[in-house]
Amino acid sequence: MKSTGIGLVLFRKTAGMVLALSAFGQATHAAELPRLAHENGRYTLMVDGRPYFPLGAQVGNSSGWPEQLKNLWPKAEALHLNTLEVPVYWEQMEPREGVFDDTVVEDVVQQARAHHVRLVLSWFGTWKNGKMHYVPDWVKQDTQRFPRMLTRSGQKIDVLSANSDANLNADRKAFVHLMGVLKRVDGDQHTVIMVQVENESGALGSVRDFSPAAQKQFESAVPEALVKALGKRSGTWKQVFGDDADETFQAWSVAHYINQIAAAGKQEMPLPMYVNNWLKSPRGYPVLTIPGEDYPSGGPTSNMLAVWKAAAPAIDILAPDIYVPNTERYRDVMQQFKRPDNPLFIPETQGFGHFPGSQGAARNLFLAIGAGTIGFAPFGIDNFALVGADGKPDYEQVGLAQNYELLAPIAEELAALQFAGKVKTAAEEPGLEQIELTFGQWSALVSFPPEYTASADTGGLSPTAALHMGRVMVAQLGPDEFLVAGIDARVNFRLTPPAAAQAQLLTVEQGTYDGPTWKRTRLWNGDETDAGLNFKAPGSVVRVKLGTY
Ligand code: DGJ
Repeated sequence: MKSTGIGLVLFRKTAGMVLALSAFGQATHAAELPRLAHENGRYTLMVDGRPYFPLGAQVGNSSGWPEQLKNLWPKAEALHLNTLEVPVYWEQMEPREGVFDDTVVEDVVQQARAHHVRLVLSWFGTWKNGKMHYVPDWVKQDTQRFPRMLTRSGQKIDVLSANSDANLNADRKAFVHLMGVLKRVDGDQHTVIMVQVENESGALGSVRDFSPAAQKQFESAVPEALVKALGKRSGTWKQVFGDDADETFQAWSVAHYINQIAAAGKQEMPLPMYVNNWLKSPRGYPVLTIPGEDYPSGGPTSNMLAVWKAAAPAIDILAPDIYVPNTERYRDVMQQFKRPDNPLFIPETQGFGHFPGSQGAARNLFLAIGAGTIGFAPFGIDNFALVGADGKPDYEQVGLAQNYELLAPIAEELAALQFAGKVKTAAEEPGLEQIELTFGQWSALVSFPPEYTASADTGGLSPTAALHMGRVMVAQLGPDEFLVAGIDARVNFRLTPPAAAQAQLLTVEQGTYDGPTWKRTRLWNGDETDAGLNFKAPGSVVRVKLGTY
């Protein structure tokens, strides 16, 4: 095994990290399945026994087909991603009941391996965006056997009932088959590191199922497990939850259904599993939104997280799909989903230009890292292009590629440092020129000054700097040592006031990591450090040793 980065050596000395990090220091655990590590309220993904940070993207809804996927690898390479999220369609996998076609998923895994990219697979089964559009036609056609939800007025809608054993059994059987395929083709290689169970589950069209079977459950006592978990008194759904009874009942029903699917899948192959979420209030919070109309009722929305945690212990992560108009809202959402019992993971977000709020989206990765996310993936890599339709560089998209080009070589280190709670970030917004990141006696003053971006000694205004999405990650490696990665920003280290001494840079090494091994390429000094550490586009990684005099 190669020598270990100093950062990790230092962290091994940190109390509380010994268990998790002792695994990093041993020879690669190729036999160990991908898993979530959890310690001190923080999480990280472990892949082949080492910390792993998915710098990801998700393909378009109809791009999980081999012929389509083939076209996306040049984009994946240009983006410098390390992980691709790809859907697996129930309608494709089980075209006739009990007859399975594994060729698509096998091909997807082979393609990813050929491109040295890990996969997250999303099971498009009973639910896709609060509807049932990906179930096989033999399910769609047999409404007797596979009951739909009924609205309050008794209308059928195109959402399967979560209160039906027949629906559950059919989906579960197919999902278990999928996990069996993964065990067969990937049990020892771990190309697939995580599985999303269903997609934006819940119901559009009704707050809950009003079918006779569901109604009977609704009029019965709330399951003891839920009452206990929420610290409520026993009673019927209406008695316990009042005005929220319909949505809470639907959330319990969906979560309980998905839990049984995930648990059965894990019996085949226990990969980490998560569910994603159509936000309750994308544009603001709190905003009056109607479950079943404005967002799928019963999904793992911010108001239903406790219900989901109680109902779905086989689901490791309740994850937000973040499509929001500004950074304030972005932060709110991350805060709602990062809980001691729930890692923050962002499986979908805006970025590839076709969603409102995508402007300056390159900053969101850094916001998310600062908030403790364990992975990140903008949606719709099909729309990613470094050059716009007018033949000119699209600097918004260039910014996304810069992010991953900068961080991919240090991704293992990043995951380890995140897990140790040593990472802070700063991201520019229009009008925001300075952010101070403090680490005990040291502080890093991050600035995005217009005079820096426009001054002659930087070689003129950087086209990406003009978009005001400068970004910096600072991680503490030791008492006086830091790892800094940045783009379009300046960083000045100083002693946190009040200080009796003066700070000085001892050395600033530019370089990168090869796995856990730091490789220095040069020392920064002179114009690169005199007024502060200048992180010009396309970005650099440095290790800084600080001293005082
Ligand atoms: C969120 C869904 O989860 C995705 O599958 C996709 O439909 C995007 N929205 C929007 O295109």
